[in-house]
This record gives sequence, C-alpha cells and structure tokens, in this order.
Amino acid sequence: MHNEMKEVLISAEAIQDKIEELGAQLSEEYKDRFPLVIGVLKGALPFMADLIKRMDIHLEYDLMAVSSYGASTVSSGEVKIIKDLDTSLEGRDVIIVEDIIDSGLTLSYLVQLFLHRKAKSVKIVTLLDKPTGRRVDIKPDLAGFIVPDAFVVGYGLDYIERYRNLPYIGVLKPEIYENK
Ligand code: PRP
Ligand code: MN
Ligand code: MG
Repeated sequence: MHNEMKEVLISAEAIQDKIEELGAQLSEEYKDRFPLVIGVLKGALPFMADLIKRMDIHLEYDLMAVSSYGASTVSSGEVKIIKDLDTSLEGRDVIIVEDIIDSGLTLSYLVQLFLHRKAKSVKIVTLLDKPTGRRVDIKPDLAGFIVPDAFVVGYGLDYIERYRNLPYIGVLKPEIYENK
C-alpha cells in the first residue's frame, strides 16, 4: 500500500502530537459543559477515536454517516444522510469532528441541520483543512493542519474506500486514480 503513495504529507507521530494539543484545547474550552461530540462517518472515525481519548472532561459522543463524494475524487455537492444521530440536539453544545473540510459542503449542511435541530452551539474541529477547495464560505473553529490542493488519503480519508487505515496522511500517486 505504501508504494502507492507519492509522499507522506503528515506523519503518524505529527498527527498524534497535534491531537494531544487539540484535545487539551477542547478540554479547557468545554470543562464546565457536557458537550456532544459528533463524528462524521466514515472519514472521521480514526481522528474521533483518538481525539476523545485526549479530552479529559465529561462528554457524550454520537455518530452520523453522510457522504458527498461517492466513488469520485470530486465532491458531487449533494450531501446524503446514510445514518442519522440517536441523540436529541436541543440545548446541546455540539462539537462536530471531521477528517477534512474541502468544498465545505458537508459541514455547512451539517451546521445548518444541527442549528435547525436547536443545538445551543455548534463548533467544528477538523484534522485537515484544504482552503483551496472551498465552494461555500465556512471555516473550522479548530483545525489540525492545512493541506495543499492534492488528493490526500489515510487516517480516515479514502479513495474508493481504500487507505482509511493508514496511520499517516499521504498523497496518492496520480497513476493510481488516473485512467479509471
Ligand atoms: C469526505 C470527508 C469529508 C468531506 C469533505 O467524506 O470525509 O466528510 O468529504 O468534503 P467537502 O468539504 O467537499 O464536503 P466523503 O463524502 O468522501 O465520505 P466518507 O467520509 O465516508 O469518505
Ligand atoms: Mn466524510
Ligand atoms: Mg470519502
């Protein structure tokens, strides 16, 4: 699998160091509250699992599955709910956990939805931010790393469902996704 990578963009160690930092920041910010941490499947699973273990406060978590990319490398612009939450959002301090913000369509949809469901506050934490991909005006409250306009995979991010289990973020060799 590693020989399908052009380069390692963010090492496993750098990811874990950053998560420790983000966890400490969130623990401080939410210490007197009982936030509902919402992971956006499938991509956010590895990040979410590591982040909550670095949050030294009482919290609740839930998971939602949405998809916008399908089997394409370009976002379709349509967000599909595959699995909804079990938890009521009314009056809750919500922290959305994502692996990446690219066009921003997934997160702007979710923020609107959660506010409509009467969340008291909604914050966005993303491991990766790709500002050059933006099609709607949305910014994360906390972001781990800014990434360039390349097709990145690993640590939850897939290409046709592969590479999610890599412990690092890598850039795929173009020949892997070209001529498909
Ligand atoms: C990817 C990624 C984010 C979203 C970001 O998910 O995990 O959720 O796209 O793109 P956007 O800012 O352009 O909306 P995807 O739809 O591929 O589903 P997945 O998490 O199951 O891979
Ligand atoms: Mn996703
Ligand atoms: Mg995907």
